[in-house]
Amino acid sequence: MARTAAVPVILEEEYESRRADLAKELKPNSLFLLLSAKPQQRSHDTEFPYRQNSNFYYLTGFKEENAALVIVRGKKAFNTYLFVQKKEKQLELWTGKRLGEKRAKKLFHVDNVFTSELLHEKVLGLLSKSKNFYYDFNVTDTRLDALREKAKSLLAHYNAATLVERARLVKSPAEIRLIKHAISITKEAHHRAMKLSKQLTTEKELQAEIEYVFTKNGAYSDAYTSIVASGNAANTLHYIENNKALKDGELILIDAGCEYEYYASDITRTIPANGKFSKAQKELYEMILNVEKEIISMVRVGVLRSHLQKRAQELLCRGLVSLGILEGECKKLLKKGKLNKYYPHGIGHWMGLDVHDQAPYKDAKGKEIPLCEGMVLTIEPGIYIDKDDKSVPKKYRGIGIRIEDDILVRGSGYENLSAAIAKEVQEIESM
Ligand code: GLY
Ligand code: MN
Ligand code: MN
Repeated sequence: MARTAAVPVILEEEYESRRADLAKELKPNSLFLLLSAKPQQRSHDTEFPYRQNSNFYYLTGFKEENAALVIVRGKKAFNTYLFVQKKEKQLELWTGKRLGEKRAKKLFHVDNVFTSELLHEKVLGLLSKSKNFYYDFNVTDTRLDALREKAKSLLAHYNAATLVERARLVKSPAEIRLIKHAISITKEAHHRAMKLSKQLTTEKELQAEIEYVFTKNGAYSDAYTSIVASGNAANTLHYIENNKALKDGELILIDAGCEYEYYASDITRTIPANGKFSKAQKELYEMILNVEKEIISMVRVGVLRSHLQKRAQELLCRGLVSLGILEGECKKLLKKGKLNKYYPHGIGHWMGLDVHDQAPYKDAKGKEIPLCEGMVLTIEPGIYIDKDDKSVPKKYRGIGIRIEDDILVRGSGYENLSAAIAKEVQEIESM
């Protein structure tokens, strides 16, 4: 791919300032602990590719397993500790080079670096001087169990993940550059799919072409399992079998996005297998496309996601009535939940280190968090009509369409980060 801009990175200074910001949030006399992700065994002697825990990665940028971050906060000042795997020649022969403690000390702006064998002993010592213990409540890990047990009667416990996830809501310029980079690779993949769909015979082949582009461009393949759903399969929202033959006259819903340096992209395009939309497909597609564009145009600081959803429901309902798919007055239809059958999901979700970014939608008081500058969310309206739905005019049966873009909230409005990925009927057909 001709990409001239330098590949973006996040500098250690940024991770350092994230840790400092987090330390400020801790109660005085606290110990904050985050563990690296546990490796996942696939079967005997084989593991799934390792991926770091997103919260741990957010605060360290460190990709190795068997690591831990500890932040100890006193009255005001704080100290940081990184625990890393010890260098071991024999193990490195099998699983590759490790950074080791000495290099970690040079590269990371943390106060102390120890090898992971010392985690238990050091944390126990530090806990004995702390009043509050922060750790990820959702993690089950023997490394944590023993410490939690010891700390049980001594301390107040808080969920460390909640603090990190709140910080992850608003993206920094460096994070946005990485998301843009992921999207630029995903753009190439979707355009390749549009160009090749006519000459390929199965969903699997199309998936392989898309993921080939991801991998060849240095992405960690997909940010979620790609959905390549042709014909009626598009009406199964999480269809991932991708094993049907492509058929002339059907649409293909492709929901696929790569993850680049831990940052996700999440894009859906719906394209005709034979390169040309039928009249009925085009009618439905353009209705949804117009809704998508209108909802995107509503994105700005202060807006609530629930308002975007409500407006999307109104517009989609109106669109379905105008096409004769629903009958009646929209207000009543919506009240009776008649749209849910055709539009059963939300308008979008936060996106970042995770495709469904692990960040809150409500504040501590349970109030919905309005859009703020620097948030990234998807906008993804869709309509799904089962092939056997006799209540719908025949020409629309068996069609599932979703259009999904990744949107950055800007002070003055929004930036559609995936605007360069073709979605107009003419653009798609001309590919
Ligand atoms: N790809 C998952 C989603 O669109 O939310
Ligand atoms: Mn999505
Ligand atoms: Mn998606």
